[in-house]
Formats: sequence, structure tokens, C-alpha cells
Amino acid sequence: MTFEWTGWHWEQKQQTTTSEIIMETDNKQIIHVCEVSGHDTNGAGTEKMPFKTALRAMQAINGSEEIQILVRKDLVEGFKEISGAGKKKAKKLWEGEEKKRVKAEELKAKEAAEKAARAGDDAKRLEEAKSIKLVNDESLGVATKPNLIYIPISGWVHNLRVQGKDMMFLVLRDGTGHLQCLLKGRVCHTYDALTLTRESTVKVYGMLNEVPEGKKAPGGHELVVDYWELIGRAPSGEENYENQFNEESNPEVLYNLRHLVIRGDRASSILKMRSIIIKAFRSHFESKQVTEITPPLMVQTQVEGGATLFGFKYYGEEAYLTQSSQLYLETTLPSVGDSFCIAESFRAENSHTRRHLSQFSHCEAEYAFIEFDDLLQNIEDMICGVVEAVMNDPIGSQLLKELNPDFKPPSRPFKRMPYTEAIAWLNERNIINEKTGQPFAFERRMTDTINEPIFLCKFPVEIKSFYMKRCADDRRLTESVDVLMPGVGEIVGGSMRISDYQELMDAYKREGIDAAPYYWFTDQRKYGTCEHGGFGLGIERFVAWLLNCYTVRETCWYPRFPGRCQP
Ligand code: 4AD
Repeated sequence: MTFEWTGWHWEQKQQTTTSEIIMETDNKQIIHVCEVSGHDTNGAGTEKMPFKTALRAMQAINGSEEIQILVRKDLVEGFKEISGAGKKKAKKLWEGEEKKRVKAEELKAKEAAEKAARAGDDAKRLEEAKSIKLVNDESLGVATKPNLIYIPISGWVHNLRVQGKDMMFLVLRDGTGHLQCLLKGRVCHTYDALTLTRESTVKVYGMLNEVPEGKKAPGGHELVVDYWELIGRAPSGEENYENQFNEESNPEVLYNLRHLVIRGDRASSILKMRSIIIKAFRSHFESKQVTEITPPLMVQTQVEGGATLFGFKYYGEEAYLTQSSQLYLETTLPSVGDSFCIAESFRAENSHTRRHLSQFSHCEAEYAFIEFDDLLQNIEDMICGVVEAVMNDPIGSQLLKELNPDFKPPSRPFKRMPYTEAIAWLNERNIINEKTGQPFAFERRMTDTINEPIFLCKFPVEIKSFYMKRCADDRRLTESVDVLMPGVGEIVGGSMRISDYQELMDAYKREGIDAAPYYWFTDQRKYGTCEHGGFGLGIERFVAWLLNCYTVRETCWYPRFPGRCQP
């Protein structure tokens, strides 16, 4: 037996054995206990390293009556033979412990045997299952009962529940919805059934029934499967879909696994809603005879300030990812008339807020021969029209109910508030920007307090973009508008555009912009100018508002923000 100093205490390197600890004196076997300085773990039962308790000594000698136990109760008196009562008590305790230990060992052995038997059974069952082959009975394809529909369906295993040995419920997902499938008897005895995992792809054939009274299934229907095939097996064990992430996973994990996360109920519903919303925008513009264009995304001009440009080399020349397609849309007015696009815009703003993305879907429209009030009207018509269309869409209304049950369509007309009035509103209420300690220039707090859409109008020239038209009655202000929505803040930015050639040249100069690359844009003011205006709406912010999502990172497909360009 050796002892080693671990830094904390002496550690016995080997398990103490009875023969090692027993001292032999005058042919008598002795074990030592010191109630003052002994130690049950690190002690050795010797005079120098005694145990602490008589029970520990009893354990070491396996309850032997042959070996003498010496006990030291105080250091002056020294070791004395244990009292009869003390020995009896220690023995009784030891016997109790022994009984428990033996019982525990027996139980463990029994459980191990059962487990092995089960594993054997499972392996046997799996082996036998390999020989069970299902046959696709084509004749079943002809439904005999008129109220039953016989259908084959392919999809992903969204959920899987095994009930005993003879029943298995699958919820299949195929993008159009979910369908519960019931696999009974032989159908769920096959090797593929026994080893089926979530997210595997399968093709099932069976009769579509209404679910029995009191039972629940998506859509109230259930496919009773009589034949099915495994198409693609998803991993089991460590790699099992369910082991990859859960609601509590770190956001970084969820962004890394976004390609799997979008298979989940919430993410897929939001993506579906996005599609329905985008379709509603398109229908709205179509109903107003506004033509869709697809703009270039690689450009050589900025729209919303040089600070947020993503630049790259384009065959050796300086180019950017577009911040907005507005300037290009202005060039289609004399070509196809009022136009719109739904295209990607890019902003290299190092913003880590829940409302900013580095790439977003931008719905932009441009109208010729309009005035500022027409522009506001167009925006209001569009927002309310899209909301109405989504609510009238059967899937849209269903998803809206699930994702944002408290949603109420905005009432018209939207509140109109000049910028100066908003500043006064905030200052009157002493609403201070927590970051800067200054009264707010503009803030979502106001929108949230007012709790309805606001047209915030007529921003000062110096805080808006170069292309904005000035107000006729106050040249310090622009004919501009931001639409603010409760919970999200700005979802639309728009304005009337400069229509006068010289005013535009002055604006380039004021902003330090080289007019040369803008020749095609400037030409619009030369070759038949007109009063015109337009706006841009961020689809992700609109979806976040409609669905009450916390962040725009949740309302796009694969979010891009500082530090994230994957997957
Ligand atoms: O206010 P913005 O910058 O206006 C423009 O780009 C104009 N040229 C549009 C136009 O008049 N055609 O952007 C318009 C909208 C914002 O209100 C917001 O909804 C969205 O685009 N947006 C962003 N969305 C997510 N992340 C960002 N970084 C965004 N920047 C703007």
C-alpha cells in the first residue's frame, strides 16, 4: 500500500486490504481506531494512521471476530480494546450495510441481465423485421367506399410517436401542411419502421379518414397507412435531428443551424407568411397597374450615404452592392410608368440592433406626376391593402391567428405628424435617449406610446438623403416621410424627389457627391422632368410588425448581420 500527496490530502493509491491493515502484535491481529485524529478515507487502520470509526474498522475486517479492535478516545489515554457494546453496535451497523450492499449488487446484476435480454430481443426483433416486406396493393388505389380517399403522400417525418408494438403515429410535413399517419400491425413491424427517425423522408399510401371523436390531428384528418416506403433515412443517435438544437439553444447555434431550424413550426410558418405577404404586395401593385422591374444589384452609385456601402472590385473597377433601387426605379417612370421592385438591398451598417440587417428585402415603388399627399395616400393604401389581402388569404389568416393572435389591422387614416411636432412631443414628456442622455430626435418610444401607425413627415434637409425635394413653404425641410409602426419603428422611408435639374446639381455638391457616375440619373431631370416620389419598405420589418416578432433576424430566410454570413 502506498500513499501520495495530491496537494489536498494523502491519497491511498490502492484499495486497502484486510491483510495489509492488520498489525500483528504477540500473534494477535489488531486494527486501530482513533476517534480524535483518525480518518475513514485516508486512514489505514494502523497505529500511525488509524481509522476514525469502529464501523470503518469493521468494514475493513469484514466483521471478523478474530481481529481485535483498539479504540483511542483521547490522545493521552491511548488505544484500548473496544467495549463490548461498542463492538456490538459497530457489527450491527456493518451487517445492515452489508445486507444493503448485497441487495444492491443483486438488483444491478438483475437489471443488467434484463437489459441484455432486451437488447437481444430488440436485435432479434430488428433482424426479424428485415424479413417483413410490405407490398403495395395497387387495387387499394381504387377506393371502394365513396367517402374514403386513397392517396399517396411524400414528406418529411415531422413527428414520430410509437404506441406499444403495434401502433405508430407519424406527422408528415410536405410544405403544404401536416398530415397525421397511422401505421398499425405489420406496417409498423418492418425494419424501416423500427428504426425510423425524425426528418427522414417517406412515401405513404393509405385511406384518409376523419380522426375518431375526441382524438386530435392536424386538420382533423389521419391517413391510415397500408403501405409505405422509406426514401431517405435521417441520422439517429448523436446526429438525430432532435439532438441538434432546442428552443433554449444559444442564438449562435440556432443561426449556424438555420438550415435545420427553418424546418420547425414557427420558422416555417414565418417563411410561409413572408411569401404570402410578398405575394400580397405584388397583387396590390398589379391592381394599381404599377409595373414590376428587376433592378441591378451591383452598382456604382450610392443612395443612402457612403457610410453604409459594401464595396467590391468589379473587373478592376470600384462597385457596390446596392443600398436601394430607388434611383433606377426613377429611370423606368418615363419607360413603363409607375414601377416597383422587390429586390435585395445591402447596408454595411455596423448595427447590432434587432431591426437592422446587412441584407434585406426591399419593396420599393416610384410614382410619376404625384404630390406629397398622393405619396402618403399610396403608402397607406398599400399597407392596408396588403394587411387585408393577408387576412383574406385562407392560409395567411390561419398563420396570422397562430403567430400573432392579438393582431388588429390599423385604422385609417394614419396619424400624420410633422418632425418638429414629434420632437416637441418627446421633449414635453421628457423622453430622453438613454444612450446619449439627450432628448430623442426620434424614437420608437413615441410610436409605442401612441400605439398606431404614424406618418412622420418633413424631416430637415441635413438629416435626409440628397435626392429629397424641399418643402415649398419651408426650404429647411424636405417632403419626406417615415412610417413608424408600434413595436418595430420605421418600416417605410419615402419622399418626393428633386425634380429640378439645378436643385439636383446643388444637392450633389452639398453632399460632396461626384455627379459623374450619376449621369443616367441626372438625365431624368434633363429629358422631361416631372414631379414624382416613392418609398422603400423593408419586408423583414413589415413581417416583424405584422407577426409581432422580436427581431428581423427571425423574419428573413438566412439573416445577414455583422459577423454572420453563413449558412
Ligand atoms: O429609409 P431607407 O434607408 O430608404 C431608402 O433606402 C430609400 N431609398 C427607399 C426609397 O425611397 N425607395 O430604407 C427604407 C426601408 C426602411 O424603412 C426599413 O424598413 C428598411 O428599408 N431598411 C432596413 N431593414 C432592415 N435592415 C436595415 N439595415 C435596413 N435599412 C433600411
